[in-house]
Amino acid sequence: MGILNLKIWALSSFLISATTALPFGASSSTCNQTTLSDAADMYIAAQTAGNPDSLQPILSSGFSYQENNKVLDIKKSVLTKPLKIEHRRTIFDLVLCATYTEVIAPAAANPYVIGTQIRHADDGKVVSIDSIATTTNSWLFNATKTLEYVKAEKWDPLPESQRSPRAVLQAAGDAYLDMWSNATADKAIPWGTPCTRLEGSAYTGKGKSDDSCKPGIPSNHSQAPNTHRRYVVDESMGSVSIFCVWEHMMMAADSHEFRLEGGKLRYVHTMTECGGKVCKL
Ligand SMILES: *[C@@H]1O[C@H](CO)[C@@H](O)[C@H](O)[C@H]1NC(C)=O
Ligand SMILES: *[C@@H]1O[C@H](CO)[C@@H](O)[C@H](O)[C@H]1NC(C)=O
Ligand SMILES: *[C@@H]1O[C@H](CO)[C@@H](O)[C@H](O)[C@H]1NC(C)=O
Ligand SMILES: *[C@@H]1O[C@H](CO)[C@@H](O)[C@H](O)[C@H]1NC(C)=O
Repeated sequence: MGILNLKIWALSSFLISATTALPFGASSSTCNQTTLSDAADMYIAAQTAGNPDSLQPILSSGFSYQENNKVLDIKKSVLTKPLKIEHRRTIFDLVLCATYTEVIAPAAANPYVIGTQIRHADDGKVVSIDSIATTTNSWLFNATKTLEYVKAEKWDPLPESQRSPRAVLQAAGDAYLDMWSNATADKAIPWGTPCTRLEGSAYTGKGKSDDSCKPGIPSNHSQAPNTHRRYVVDESMGSVSIFCVWEHMMMAADSHEFRLEGGKLRYVHTMTECGGKVCKL
């Protein structure tokens, strides 16, 4: 048994003994992947059926639903529209006990690209569902095109050697979102090559080794900031999801998901919705 294996073994046996040492009747309140994954799957099933009622058993008493940065009755939400989901990817944050799921439903009758952060309480119940739901009129929206690009990308779990600590992932995402309001923020971004940005349905790269995410970054750093940020971080996927208010474009509801590979920015996915109006700068 190597040193690392020994450490992992020692740590897990500590965790097991800590769990089994709980007083009789007390329940462990540690966030776990099964709870997060089951809830994300139920969310996908509810969206596919167009029926949020099926989520009721897992919602906490203080549950709140938010869509495009506005609190909304879940019974009047996008979850009431049956969507033909052709892509979903969920990332898991066991520290914040939350998930982020990217959803693409391109069918012409009801095209949507949705980002959803689901947060859980210690008992596993869902305390909030927070969605950025983009459709026709949203920034650079074309779900068919988005799907084509996303399907061609590789977002497998990263080998240990390619992972970054959660603080590094979050700082990279924050620095990126700071570029609109901070003239030196771009210096703090671990730019990588290749790097591909999927902004709505607009793609900056075609997979060439010299592709960069720098084309089109803000040159005006005196714009209104991106505020009210909410995070989900997954080290194994190298990903951070950040929702915010895109103040400099019609106070839009915005989702950015970043992926770092080996500490360098590899992918950026964005979704931006402008209160049902046509998004324009
Ligand atoms: C995961 O958490 C839930 C809710 O707290 C709990 O009921 C379940 O037993 C846990 N599962 C594991 C494998 O720890
Ligand atoms: C969306 O993209 C698809 C695939 O690239 C294209 O065929 C289609 O014309 C586009 N739709 C619109 C409304 O631009
Ligand atoms: C601007 O960004 C740089 C790099 O991330 C950071 O060190 C600095 O504190 C930021 N300035 C402000 C005013 O937030
Ligand atoms: C930068 O953005 C601010 C805020 O929108 C605006 O007032 C200013 O004119 C812009 N500067 C340039 C050079 O476009």
